Amino acid sequence: MKHKATDTDPEISSALLAWYGRSRRDLPWRGTNDPYRVWVSEIILQQTRVVQGTAYYHRFLERFPTVEALAAASVDEVMKVWEGLGYYSRARNMHAAARTVVHDLGGHFPEDAAGLRRLKGIGPYTAAAIASIAYGEAVPVLDGNVFRVIARLFAIRLPRGSAGDREVTRLTRQLIPADAPGDFNQALMELGALVCTPGDPLCDDCPVRGYCLAYKEGWTRQLPIASAPPKVEKRYFHYLVVTCDKEILVTRRDRRDIWQLLWEFPALEMQKEISPEKVLRLFEKEIPGITGEEAPVISPVIRHQLTHRTILARFYHVHLREWPEALKKEWAKIPLDKMDGLAFSRLITAYMESHPQRFGS
Ligand code: ADE
Repeated sequence: MKHKATDTDPEISSALLAWYGRSRRDLPWRGTNDPYRVWVSEIILQQTRVVQGTAYYHRFLERFPTVEALAAASVDEVMKVWEGLGYYSRARNMHAAARTVVHDLGGHFPEDAAGLRRLKGIGPYTAAAIASIAYGEAVPVLDGNVFRVIARLFAIRLPRGSAGDREVTRLTRQLIPADAPGDFNQALMELGALVCTPGDPLCDDCPVRGYCLAYKEGWTRQLPIASAPPKVEKRYFHYLVVTCDKEILVTRRDRRDIWQLLWEFPALEMQKEISPEKVLRLFEKEIPGITGEEAPVISPVIRHQLTHRTILARFYHVHLREWPEALKKEWAKIPLDKMDGLAFSRLITAYMESHPQRFGS
């Protein structure tokens, strides 16, 4: 049964807006309608929760206060500020989009959702968020929070996916008030984050409980319907950490794969679990003599969870008395005290932080 626009729709919208006015969190990007700042905050918030996101937001804007500053930076500088957030393609896309805005659009962001969508990395969610918050365009946003709120409010029995997303967007469009679309979109997201939470929502605090079909029918725990869990792939990485005379070998990931353009140590990826001794024999073929001087220190398997992948990694520490004459051309020796300047995956930085003595300069 489809929900037709009803007389209660404006009541729902104004109850939500009034609640948002009273209850919204005082977040640093809330006081702005500068599209650049809205864009930065929305991309960061797709990655992380508000508390961590706020710290990244300040850091990002301190380093790149304007779209011109972002466009003028190197992609490496952007990756470095993004380090730890994950999904590095988002940082690369932001950098590319900033260059388009500055070099092709005279420094002005497109002023509607359709134009924004043409920028790299700006999909339907981000375009709707920027257009509604910065320009007051009445376009509905859809993220996990909004989906949950609307699916409960109208008892939508579809999981996320094309049909469910279409239906939820249609309903949100009916609710969105022309005079406050940005606040309305943020009110939905805020309600999803603070009140209409997954699991047991705080219905006693909900400004639209009186309109909520899931509440009325006792279905808040069942809705929204869960999608099938994503398939998680296992990957086995072995990192060779070679040091010599206060230098360390690093290399850059450039294939189309996770962690593209981030730095790492020379690595072997295996299709399955394999003994460290076998891995060392393979490393020995790449740098003869590595196992001859001192016994390598081998870490236990370290498990690192990404959205669709479980990484199982080991680190093999080798200290050489002198560098071999020839090293593979894609490897670079860098001073240990310069490592801070490179962006590594979260797996590697976490490992380095928990074993500082193995990376001491
Ligand atoms: N999540 C992502 N963007 C948000 C916003 N602008 N307000 C509340 N929650 C959000």
